[in-house]
Amino acid sequence: MPAPDFLTTLTEFAPARLRGLPARFEAQKIAFGPVVFQCVRVAWKSGLLALLDAAGKAGASVEALAAQNSLSEYAISVVLETALSAGVVRREGEHYSLTRIGDNVLHDEMTQINIDYVHDVCYQGLFALEASLREEKPLGLKALGDWPTVYEGLPELPEPARASWFKFDHYYSDSAFAQALPHVFARKPRRLMDIGANTGKWSLHCLRHDPEVRLTLLDLPVQLAQARVTLENAGLLPRADLHPIDILDFDAPFPAGMDAVWMSQFLTCFSLTAIGHIFRRAAECLAPGGSVWVLDTFWDRQRHDIASYCLINTSPYFTAIASGNSKMYESSAIVASAEAHGLRLAETVDDLGISHSLLRFERTA
Ligand SMILES: C[S@@+](CC[C@H](N)C(=O)[O-])C[C@H]1O[C@@H](n2cnc3c(N)ncnc32)[C@H](O)[C@@H]1O
Repeated sequence: MPAPDFLTTLTEFAPARLRGLPARFEAQKIAFGPVVFQCVRVAWKSGLLALLDAAGKAGASVEALAAQNSLSEYAISVVLETALSAGVVRREGEHYSLTRIGDNVLHDEMTQINIDYVHDVCYQGLFALEASLREEKPLGLKALGDWPTVYEGLPELPEPARASWFKFDHYYSDSAFAQALPHVFARKPRRLMDIGANTGKWSLHCLRHDPEVRLTLLDLPVQLAQARVTLENAGLLPRADLHPIDILDFDAPFPAGMDAVWMSQFLTCFSLTAIGHIFRRAAECLAPGGSVWVLDTFWDRQRHDIASYCLINTSPYFTAIASGNSKMYESSAIVASAEAHGLRLAETVDDLGISHSLLRFERTA
């Protein structure tokens, strides 16, 4: 039997071109996807990729790596051979070195945040994906704790899941906040409601941006306790009203008289039925001339395939771990829901932050 090509001839593994069966090979990448994920993650976390980076083009042998790393030669060979098969490292003779893919794993912030989120928050829970899809309940959440949805559990998530969840959430939403602010404040809102205020980050931006604006923060009580601390520490609590609510209690009205209702990365947490009830109440609580703003990541409004790929593959987390019945929506589904519940789309701004779009709705007559 001939030796596998990548052990003899390859300087960089290029599986799709190897044996004229690219589709079958691609299918094996799916079959072994979780194995590759775990090995590459270990290669990164154990410091092997950093050692290869330091070794430069000349690379390093397993023996040399073992002399500088806590993993044995056996363990290093297992991890790096899988990394080789995935194109994360290349091998010439006995020496491994880093490829451009490996360089991304080692240095790219988005890749690292995504790997930590998938491993720490999603990996174990996704084992229950099929049952979660059938029951539309987040049955995988038990891997992290005992709550009805992830949102009740956020402040108590065990580490490192908690840190990885917040890094993932903030990495994507924070990047868009600064760019969204001028759009919202161009209309000079005096009363602004932040639904799903979480730790209070957006509210803080607003209160600092405009000394005359008053914020109303809506979220579950556990989250608002955190937001209170954020605002108190910044000395901005006097211009904020905290309104604990379970948004899924569809009869609970929203505080009225709002010039702006803001929902960032919020609607993705809910089913389309619940989203309809949220839009209905958001429309009802607007002051004359007020707007409902939705800042979110829609996979159909991305300029780059990489963003659509990441977004689409976040949906199974919503099923198995977050809520059981929500997902990363296409913008058309959100607009249709708003328009069926008393609002009309007035403005769309794309390409904010990493992958966000900002939608502005007005009340229909
Ligand atoms: C993905 S986070 C988004 C946070 C923030 N708006 C941002 O852009 O980073 C979703 C927020 O919705 C809140 N949330 C989820 N389910 C809720 C419910 N049933 N009632 C009220 N708030 C809820 C969560 O507590 C969390 O703060």
